[in-house]
Amino acid sequence: MSVAHAAEVNIYSGRQEELIKPLLEKFTADTGIKVNLITGKPDELISRMLSEGRNSPADILISTDVGRLYRAQQQNVLQSINSEALTQAIPAALRDPAGHWYGLTMRARPILYVGGKVKPEELSTYEDLASPKWRGRICVRSSDNIYNQSMTASIIAHDGVTAAESWAKGLVANFARPPKGGDRDQIKAAVAGVCDIAIANTYYLGGMLADKNEQAVAQQVKVFWPNQADRGAHINISGAGIAKYSPNKAAAIQLLEYMVTAEAQQWYAVANHEYPVISSGKLSDILQGFGEFKADQLSLEKLGELNSDAIRVMDRTGWK
Ligand SMILES: [Fe+2]
Repeated sequence: MSVAHAAEVNIYSGRQEELIKPLLEKFTADTGIKVNLITGKPDELISRMLSEGRNSPADILISTDVGRLYRAQQQNVLQSINSEALTQAIPAALRDPAGHWYGLTMRARPILYVGGKVKPEELSTYEDLASPKWRGRICVRSSDNIYNQSMTASIIAHDGVTAAESWAKGLVANFARPPKGGDRDQIKAAVAGVCDIAIANTYYLGGMLADKNEQAVAQQVKVFWPNQADRGAHINISGAGIAKYSPNKAAAIQLLEYMVTAEAQQWYAVANHEYPVISSGKLSDILQGFGEFKADQLSLEKLGELNSDAIRVMDRTGWK
């Protein structure tokens, strides 16, 4: 006896539900494919997939930061897929060359500064943040945060591990306080006078500008795009891969392909003040206000590869 199953896709998501749910509902309305969303901490979702093994119901893993997607691939919970639609839509640097994960939104981690405390002409590169002129003036979160690990990995990729270690040492010496809190807390600390510069992802500043309660604080902070004369500003992705034992693989690929359509990209990127990965993608008004910039073209896979080196560098230099 054959039983007809309604088509469905199961997502394990390391992203907040509100940032993705409306998109999934639209997909279901358009295709009739039901989407079941399980939200959790990315590393816990990976562990869950590992312990479920072949019986895992997961079809798609969604995560922020390439460092985690790479980790998922290394733990062997993702499978390589080949999709013309995905490779056409997503620039090569923003996806795994072997097809295990694909960037779905892009995020940037530039230098943020308090207007009046820092002149933009005093700023130049990430490397320059290690200069003694910034002693006691920089706020950034802790080294156990994957965004900082990926940023440090990018310095290793471009400057080498020895130069990255002296950079990290100089940067740590310039911290205004031992790292604490998330990216938003660094922005708030800068405005409160704890430091003059914060390193943070732009969507946090975007979120604050869009929030009536935080807008007055956020308006005092400006974006500086570093390394514009050379490689460009450090970027990262949120992205997804197909689970190794995906029971609904065809529908899962269909969903990823849906997420890079112009309509989906616009909603997904704008909802969290991120950048679309497709070239024709629209930006939120707030992001447009941060100005155009040159993004580092480094293949993001490199950041995953260099993650453990980055952690070692940060450890050795006392980045708490
Ligand atoms: Fe974040």
